[in-house]
Amino acid sequence: MSAVTASLCSTLLFVGFVVFVSADQKIITAQPGQKSVTLPCRAPNNSSTITGVEWSRADLADEYVLLYRDELFDPDNQHPSFKNRVDLQDRQMKDGDLSLILKNVMINDTGTYECEAFMRGTNVKKRANVGGDPISIVTLKVLPPDQKNITVKPGQNVMLPCRAPNNSSSIIAVEWSRADLVDEYVLLYRDEHIVPEQQHPSFKNRVDLQDRQMKDGDVSLILKNVMINDTGTYKCQVFMRGTNMRKRANLKTDPISIITLRVDPPGGSVGLIVGLILSAVLLVAAVVGFLVYRKHKQQNRDFN
Ligand SMILES: *[C@@H]1O[C@H](CO)[C@@H](O)[C@H](O)[C@H]1NC(C)=O
Ligand SMILES: *[C@@H]1O[C@H](CO)[C@@H](O)[C@H](O)[C@H]1NC(C)=O
Ligand SMILES: *[C@@H]1O[C@H](CO)[C@@H](O)[C@H](O)[C@H]1NC(C)=O
Ligand SMILES: *[C@@H]1O[C@H](CO)[C@@H](O)[C@H](O)[C@H]1NC(C)=O
Ligand SMILES: *[C@@H]1O[C@H](CO)[C@@H](O)[C@H](O)[C@H]1NC(C)=O
Ligand SMILES: *[C@@H]1O[C@H](CO)[C@@H](O)[C@H](O)[C@H]1NC(C)=O
Ligand SMILES: *[C@@H]1O[C@H](CO)[C@@H](O)[C@H](O)[C@H]1NC(C)=O
Repeated sequence: MSAVTASLCSTLLFVGFVVFVSADQKIITAQPGQKSVTLPCRAPNNSSTITGVEWSRADLADEYVLLYRDELFDPDNQHPSFKNRVDLQDRQMKDGDLSLILKNVMINDTGTYECEAFMRGTNVKKRANVGGDPISIVTLKVLPPDQKNITVKPGQNVMLPCRAPNNSSSIIAVEWSRADLVDEYVLLYRDEHIVPEQQHPSFKNRVDLQDRQMKDGDVSLILKNVMINDTGTYKCQVFMRGTNMRKRANLKTDPISIITLRVDPPGGSVGLIVGLILSAVLLVAAVVGFLVYRKHKQQNRDFN
C-alpha cells in the first residue's frame, strides 16, 4: 500500500469515519479527452442480495452520478453533467461488480466518488460496508492540459509538444488547431494521413506529426519555416476509439496541450531601437539642412 493510501486512511480516521477504514480506496488519474475511465467498486462475493447501486460525488450535494435500481437507471436526480456519460461495467452486477464507466473524461470530473449498494429487503439505501461489505471510495484526478510558451525566430522549425494517454492503438485522430482560426485546422491526422480538407492554407506542407506512429502517445507537431504570423495559441486534441468524430461541435474533449507560440521579428527590439535612432538622425539632418538653406537664401538676398 502506498503512502498516499496511508495518508488517506489517516485523514479519514482523523475526520472520524472510522467505519470506512475497511473501504476500498483508490486514486485514479486520467487525461482530459480520454475515451473512458473505470472507477472500480466490488461488493463481496456473496452479492445476490444487491439490488442496485448509487455512485455519488461529495461536492454534488443532492445529485448523484448514477443511480441504478431494480434493473433501471433513474435519471431524476442525476447531475446533468453525467447524463449519457456513465454506465455500469456490468448491469448484471455479477460477482458484486458495481464498477462505474465514465466516458469522455473532462477536467471537472476530478473529484472523490463513492459507491453504495442497495440490499434486498431493505427499502433504504445502505452503505454496503454496514453489513461488513466494502465500500469503494475513488479519487479521480483528471490532469489539466500541459501549458507551454515557446519563442522562436522566423525561418526556424519548431516542435510543439503533446503527449496523449499512453495507448496509441486507441487514438483514432489527432487535431491541432489555433484559437483564432475557427473553422480551419492546423493539422488533422486520421487514418494514418493528414486530412487536406479544412486545413488552413498557410500550414499546407509545413506541418507534420513528429512521429506518425504516435509511439507512447507522442502526438507532437512539427511546424517548419516559421513565419511572424504563426504567432498564436495552439491546441492539441486527441480522439480515442469510441468517440463520435462526425460532429466536431459535439465533441467534448478538452485539449491535452496548449502552447503559446511567439515568433519574434529578426533582430527583435534591437532592430526597433536602431530604426528609432536612424529616424531621429534623419530628422535632425533635415532640420539642420533647412536652417542652412534658409541662411544661404538670406545671404543671397543680402548680396542683391
Ligand atoms: C467468493 O467466495 C468463495 C467462497 O464462498 C471464496 O472462495 C472466494 O475467494 C470468494 N471470492 C471473492 C472474490 O471474494
Ligand atoms: C451469503 O448470504 C447469505 C444470506 O444472504 C448468508 O446466509 C451467507 O452466510 C452468506 N455467505 C457468505 C460466504 O458470506
Ligand atoms: C463540467 O463542465 C461542463 C462544461 O464544460 C458543465 O456542463 C458540467 O456541468 C460541469 N460538470 C460539473 C460536475 O460541474
Ligand atoms: C506564458 O506567458 C504568459 C504571459 O507572458 C504568462 O502569464 C504565463 O505564466 C506563461 N506560462 C508558462 C507556462 O510559462
Ligand atoms: C507507455 O507504455 C510503455 C509500455 O507499454 C511504457 O514504457 C511507457 O512508459 C508508457 N508511457 C506513458 C506516458 O505512460
Ligand atoms: C492498449 O490497448 C489495447 C487494445 O486496444 C489493450 O489490449 C491494452 O490493454 C491497452 N493498454 C493499456 C495500458 O491501456
Ligand atoms: C501569414 O502570412 C502569409 C503571407 O505572408 C499568408 O499566406 C498566410 O495565410 C498567413 N497566415 C495566417 C495564419 O494568417
